[in-house]
Amino acid sequence: MNKVSILPDWVFSPQPMYIIGTKNEDGTPNFCIITWLGFSFDKLPHLMMTVGGTKLTKTNILRNNKFSANMITEDTLWLADYFGNKSGEKGAKTEVAYTYQWGKFVDVPIIDECHWSYECEVTKTMELDGAHLFLARIKNIWIDENYKNMDMKNIDLTKIKPAIYAPYGYFSIGEKLGAMGEWKKHML
Ligand SMILES: Cc1cc2nc3c(=O)[nH]c(=O)nc-3n(C[C@H](O)[C@H](O)[C@H](O)COP(=O)(O)O)c2cc1C
Repeated sequence: MNKVSILPDWVFSPQPMYIIGTKNEDGTPNFCIITWLGFSFDKLPHLMMTVGGTKLTKTNILRNNKFSANMITEDTLWLADYFGNKSGEKGAKTEVAYTYQWGKFVDVPIIDECHWSYECEVTKTMELDGAHLFLARIKNIWIDENYKNMDMKNIDLTKIKPAIYAPYGYFSIGEKLGAMGEWKKHML
């Protein structure tokens, strides 16, 4: 295949998105969207998240060292889009309906409508050139009770339906392509 190079500014990294929940100074919850989020493992499971610029979410995390990450699925996409397009610094995000509760292990707000949520405690913060990179230990995971008998080694993503981001749009996932280690079946 012939290739051309493009500017690194065009960071095209198709990936799932999360509604990040934090606690404001007055005890109320705040939510925004973060796509710059990945997973890491060092004896225990962690999330790595980059928050750019100035945001209420960042202010709250720098103060509390805690956040929740609520996976955005097809049915919570527009709630998430609202949170991601309204600045918490300009006022409370109260124009749309949703419910939440506080975490069991970490004092962070968890969205009831989300099917898969992580309670996280920040263990390392790296200040970059304007952005902050947070490494956070996952202390608890809330899943929809309909998933409780799901085979965790064989998760059916087509049932969970995560929404996928690519600049500047939202997509659904397609069908399962195959199982890990099946390469011989497809390549030989
Ligand atoms: C689809 C989408 C993805 C976003 N991803 C990120 C991200 O990865 N990192 C980031 O710092 N901001 C991201 N944002 C921007 C914040 O969600 C946005 O600035 C939000 O208003 C911040 O709210 P807050 O002030 O209440 O924290 C994203 C926004 C949208 C709509």
